Parts: sequence; C-alpha cells; structure tokens
Amino acid sequence: MSMAKMKSKWVCTSCNYTSASFLGRCPDCGEFSTFVEEFEEKQGTIKNQQNAIRFQEVKYTKLTDEAQCEKAYIPTGFEEFDRVLGRGYTTGSLTLLAGDPGIGKSTLLLQTMGHIANSGMKVLYICAEESTNQVKQRAKRLKIETENLYLSSENCLENVISLLDEIKPEFLVIDSIQSIFTSIIEATIGTVSQIRESTNILMKIAKQKNITTTVIGHVTKDGNIAGPKVLEHMVDCVINFEGDKYKTYRTLRTIKNRFGSTNEIAVFEMLEDGLQEVKNLSEIFLKDREEQNSAGTTIVPILEGTKTLLLELQALTGATPYPQPRRVARGVDYNRLLQILAVLEKKVGLNLSHHDVYVNIIGGIQVNEPAIDLACAIAIIASHRDIIVPYDCVFIGEIGLTGEIRYVTNLEKRLLEAKKLGFKKAIIPKTTQDVQKKLSDIELEIVPVKNLTEAILKGLKN
Ligand code: TYD
Ligand code: MG
Repeated sequence: MSMAKMKSKWVCTSCNYTSASFLGRCPDCGEFSTFVEEFEEKQGTIKNQQNAIRFQEVKYTKLTDEAQCEKAYIPTGFEEFDRVLGRGYTTGSLTLLAGDPGIGKSTLLLQTMGHIANSGMKVLYICAEESTNQVKQRAKRLKIETENLYLSSENCLENVISLLDEIKPEFLVIDSIQSIFTSIIEATIGTVSQIRESTNILMKIAKQKNITTTVIGHVTKDGNIAGPKVLEHMVDCVINFEGDKYKTYRTLRTIKNRFGSTNEIAVFEMLEDGLQEVKNLSEIFLKDREEQNSAGTTIVPILEGTKTLLLELQALTGATPYPQPRRVARGVDYNRLLQILAVLEKKVGLNLSHHDVYVNIIGGIQVNEPAIDLACAIAIIASHRDIIVPYDCVFIGEIGLTGEIRYVTNLEKRLLEAKKLGFKKAIIPKTTQDVQKKLSDIELEIVPVKNLTEAILKGLKN
C-alpha cells in the first residue's frame, strides 16, 4: 500500500493543533475526541503530476501602477448579507460559509448566486452533495430563473478546474468542501488533508483567475470529518450560519473578514420559498414581550457590529433555600452581574444576600457591553421590589463602582433605534448633554442621570 510510505500526524479538528501521536484530549483547546489522523505527503509521492494545476506566469506590479479595481464589491442581493461581508463580495476573495447540516447554507447561496447571475455575471455552482436535478428543483422553489447559472455535481477538483476553463465563470460555489477531493494527494475524501489541500488550490485559483469563490463547510462534532476550523487561517472570510435558537430564524455571523469588521450579524427567516432577511431585528426580539406584567424586565439598546438592537433584559429574585444564594447570568457577564449586585447593596441598600438572582437576555444573545449595566440593575430592583418598569422606557449606561452612571459609545444611534421602535423615554448618562441637544427635535424624552439613585427615581416612576 502506498499509504505506508506516508508519514502521519494527528490534527485537532477543533483548533488545528498538531501532534505526532493520537491524543484523547487536545492540550491546546481542551476539546475531547477531536483528533484525526492526517498523512503528510513526501515531495516525491504526489501522484498525477500532470493533473496538478499549472499556475500561470508569476505576476507583479509597481505600487504606482494603476490598480485594477473594477467591480470591487458585488452585492449579494441581500442588504444584510452585504453588510456581514463588508460591502458585498470582494472580487477574487474566498469565503467559507460554515454551519450545521440542514441549516440552510445551500439555500442561502443558491438565492445569492441566482441574484448575482441575474445581474449578468456567470456563476458555476458545484453541488457535489446533490444531483443537479435536486438543485434545479430547489431553484424552482426559490423562483430563480437565469441563463447565467451553471450546475455540476462533479466532485473531483481537477475536473472542476477544467470546467472553469470551459465556462469561465466569475463566481464559483463549492457545496461542500467535505464532498470534493483533489487527486494530487492520496488522502480519503473528507479528511483534513483533502479539505486543506483542496481549499489551498481553490484559494490560488480565486486569486489567479479572479474568481470570487464561496466554499460551504459543514460543522460537525464527529471527529472523523474535519470541521471548517482547520481552514480558518487560509481563507479570506469565514461566515457562520447558525440557527435553531429562534425557530425559523437563522443568524449569519462573521468570524473572520479580511475586508470588513468581524462583529456583524444578519438574521434571516427560513420560509416556504427560501430565506428572507429580517431588517427590523429589534421587533423580533421584542415581539413576545408582555405588555402588563413587566416587573423585572427592562429594554436596552445594544450594538452588534454596526447594527443597533433593542433587547429585553429580565431579572428574577427570590428567597433562596440554599446557604449560598445563586447568581445565574445568561447573556450577561457573570462578574459584571456580581459587581452590579455589590453596587446595588452599597449604594441603594438592596440586600440580596439571602436571595437568588437570575438575569437573562431574551433571544440567546450574549452581550459584553457595559452599556447594559443600568438596565440590568433596574431589572433586578424592579423584580425584587415588584415594581412595574414603564413599558415605553429604555435604560442605557455603565455603572461605576461608586454608583455613578457612565458614558457609553454611540448613544445617538441607540436613542434613534429606541425612537424608531416607539419608545417614549430614555434614561441615559448625564455626561452627554450634546446628544440631548442634537436629538432635541425627535419625540423621545431624554432623561440624563448622574447616579443609580437618580436613575431609580426618574426611571421607575411614571
Ligand atoms: P439547505 O439549504 O439544504 O441546508 P444545508 O445546505 O445547510 O444543509 O436547507 C435545509 C432546510 O431548509 C431543509 O430542511 C428544507 C428547508 N427549506 C425551507 O424551509 N424553505 C426553502 O425554500 C428551502 C429551499 C429549504
Ligand atoms: Mg446543502
């Protein structure tokens, strides 16, 4: 067997840590059962040399030469997707779209490529997991009609490359990286070596032929199939498509982006006829809010990348049956919660040493901004004293150790989002008179407060 000639090493599919022998637990990321064996090719063992892509002559340019930047950004057809990518697809970039099987990766890309093909660009969609007929049926369901979209179920990368020479597309989709292989190395389809080598080749093609490429990668805990983690350092962008948190809603999240920011999110809804972008995100998160019984819930505008979101923060306090009271923080940093409780005790006299405290942000979003401190403190007080927080009021501010309410960034943006969603009043830090003046013509009562006591006085009374 030729396999015997190859040197093997073990690679963690979670973090890409390499070891000479099998390890049950990764010393780097701490995950269990993530190691897979990978075979290292020696120089001479690359078979099918003639199949290896022959790269074009080496190119160079002078800094002062005019840059070729026609069509630098290509819109995806989804404003939200464009924002996540930076300003759309960057020409010649390679993007990895990762997500659980069945989350909607193929649907998202087929819709996107349908739009791009319709705008006059040639697209080659490699559906190595499905038959072209299956994809045609899906396209019908998604009402995609275009002459510029080419499909192939080819799963050998060298054949895909000859298709590129024949069709000359500007866009390429590989669905999925786990189901194609390159014949220049001798590893089984779906292994780390295959996935890495194929991506390497695709990356070179994207740059040399200026073909904008998206590669789909399934995320899986199964140690035998390499996860997209091992590719992250190679590609230009990594975007995760996640879901099941809010039923039909799916979140696109940038993990890495050479052309834009990495904390953008976009939310889609999976409908009968495909994915639809959700632009009024706050409405989704606030939609199940109870109008009457809102003791212990507050609303806070937060920032996710460049987007402002209104989130509902809930708190619940109750006498504890345990010697040590419980503090549970979901969506909020645990240590921040402890600090807020300490300030509440010292400055407001709220003694919770015999009470459990639960804090939760609705929608499964983790917020690391200190701007939620005030909303968190108010929710806890309201729950403990059974006070209804005014339904149309938002709370913004970081709480300092002496109980002072501190300035937060992008206050104007947060206030405008609150106004847009019909809120009437905002409790904000005092140090920001300019914002108050700037927004004096919008219908939103802006109440600056110096400290926690003042915030309670002005925020919890109607
Ligand atoms: P798919 O894009 O095939 O997921 P992935 O490529 O990530 O594995 O879509 C998965 C699910 O989406 C599938 O269960 C059916 C559902 N779906 C809809 O609800 N509406 C649609 O219009 C389409 C095309 C799929
Ligand atoms: Mg798919």
